[in-house]
Amino acid sequence: MAIRNILQDGDSTLLKTSRKVTDFDKRLHTLLDDMRETLIDANGLGLAAPQVGVLRRVVLIVDINIESDDMEEQIIELINPVILEQSGEDSSSEGCLSFPGIYGIVTRPATVKFSAQDRFGKDFEMVVENITARAVCHEVDHLNGVIFKTLVERYLTEEEIEEMFASREANNEEESVEEKTVEDKQVDENQTS
Ligand code: NI
Repeated sequence: MAIRNILQDGDSTLLKTSRKVTDFDKRLHTLLDDMRETLIDANGLGLAAPQVGVLRRVVLIVDINIESDDMEEQIIELINPVILEQSGEDSSSEGCLSFPGIYGIVTRPATVKFSAQDRFGKDFEMVVENITARAVCHEVDHLNGVIFKTLVERYLTEEEIEEMFASREANNEEESVEEKTVEDKQVDENQTS
């Protein structure tokens, strides 16, 4: 496994449409393993293959509803994801690993049903809500060359960003030491995908 370079704002690859995965082979598994390591290293909520320069429909999502202290166990791999149904609305702050330090309010569906394939090509469907639904929409957008900045209704000010981090830190202090690992992750859950 290897940590891959995450493409940053201004890289035209981020604006391109990714192609469907047809071969569920070792090459795909290496990409997925590298993306997992890259996502954990960056402490994000999701990562799409085009963000590491690979124009294939491959996405990782961190599902915080999976109870585990180990982020590795919360990662879901989505190959060729397709959003089937969506409902409700949620306007919250959102960021992206390709746009560090920038946060904006984006309205996303509150609930999303999607289909995808796992790393062996097996089909599955899932219904996700709130922050996980937001992450799925954000990452599927990446596969279509859509960056979150084009959807931002309003950028957070420096002060608001500081407040966002401060309030999370305050929440942290209420947690016991045992819960620290989980809470550390939650601090970042809104930040970057
Ligand atoms: Ni992103």
